[in-house]
Amino acid sequence: MALKLTVIGTGYLGATHAAAMAELGFEVLGLDVVPEKIEMLGQGRVPMYEPGLEELLRKHVAGIEGSSGRLRFTTSFEEVGAFGDVHFVCVNTPQKHGEYACDMSYVESAFGSLAPHLRDGALVVGKSTVPVGSAARLAAVLPENVELAWNPEFLREGFAVDDTLHPDRIVVGVESERAEKLLREVYAGPVGEGSPFVVTDFPTAELVKTAANSFLATKISFINAMAEVCEAADGDVVKLAEAIGHDDRIGKKFLRAGIGFGGGCLPKDIRAFMARAGELGADQALTFLREVDSVNMRRRGHMVELAREAVGGETFLGKRVAVLGATFKPDSDDVRDSPALNVAGQIHLQGGQVTVYDPKGMDNARRLFPTLGYAPSAVEAVRGADVVLHLTEWREFRDLDPAELAEAAATRIILDGRNALDPVTWREAGWTYRAMGRPRA
Ligand code: UDX
Repeated sequence: MALKLTVIGTGYLGATHAAAMAELGFEVLGLDVVPEKIEMLGQGRVPMYEPGLEELLRKHVAGIEGSSGRLRFTTSFEEVGAFGDVHFVCVNTPQKHGEYACDMSYVESAFGSLAPHLRDGALVVGKSTVPVGSAARLAAVLPENVELAWNPEFLREGFAVDDTLHPDRIVVGVESERAEKLLREVYAGPVGEGSPFVVTDFPTAELVKTAANSFLATKISFINAMAEVCEAADGDVVKLAEAIGHDDRIGKKFLRAGIGFGGGCLPKDIRAFMARAGELGADQALTFLREVDSVNMRRRGHMVELAREAVGGETFLGKRVAVLGATFKPDSDDVRDSPALNVAGQIHLQGGQVTVYDPKGMDNARRLFPTLGYAPSAVEAVRGADVVLHLTEWREFRDLDPAELAEAAATRIILDGRNALDPVTWREAGWTYRAMGRPRA
């Protein structure tokens, strides 16, 4: 009999995991404690923007014409406990308010609510990003005949479906051969197509996730630190990144300099990692992450400085600032810890009249920063602007016609916070183009 799977928590990770598991052929029951989310998902609608996810859901959600019917949703832990052989816990672990540590309350409450309903022999699989040591502690709240495994997730927003169906590795922390065997059965599809399957213990599995995100954050802050030096020395960080990236040991990816990293993962993961290392008495090992964080935050302030300089150097009062991009990265509607909105908010607080446009992030941005101005298109955002800031590298912005925007703007100055626009095209259309870590020209 094929395994029956459940997914607890249907945010980015959980909704994608549930749909992907149905795509792999399993019967899946997804649970969330928010009834509105469950209602939407049950109709094949996704509460966030993620390319390809809605199509995949509609292919499998029971009750949708032509679907496989393998995917259902509920708010009942009792139903989930009775249904599943393997339960994936995918709830989020945000940064605690005013602290570096991560908030484990959703994970703890998911385990607490699930535990009394689990069948003998069930396997609970943690996928949430947690401080090392959590799995061992959580195993203790499960009933005697229920096992735990830890299986971190590495998906990127914007590529979530593909990353889940074709992961570049599957990491499982297990304490028994049976748990490993069950997870090999779950992931037989991707492993058959070549995804490496790495088996380890609980602490290593937990650490793999935080180590990977710390490495990625370090790479971005490294190139942003080089951008600072390039600006001081009149060098070009984009060329520099290209040149060092030719060395396979360094690699080309994650070397895009700009206003730095944001989102729901990298910033909070490096902070939670430092907090946990402190608790373990290993804080010295991670002091470099403090620097990674501060280089990153400095980028946002630097963009504000460049914008102030562009509007005359003294103040933003009476100045109109167009902001292209609100999400923390393109192909997502996620504005959590978005560098773009942080920059927009800082300029607004300093008296600038800010108008934001983003292809998918407008609703979320409005909710988070209701006092900023918003426009329905890039051209409308730029109308009458004294400076234009390009802060999230959507394809739509690369395809803009600089000549059309030149007619709308009051002053033709564009600051490229993502090093993603073509300087030549913009300069030819009469713009003063400036980017971070590149010569002024
Ligand atoms: C990240 C990890 O990549 C993923 O493996 C993990 O599971 C979750 O965290 P995500 O947050 O979706 O994924 O975004 P990612 O593509 O990693 O980008 C993070 C941030 O870094 C974005 O704000 C992006 O704009 C920025 N970034 C990325 C750069 O500034 N420069 C780069 O070269 C790459």
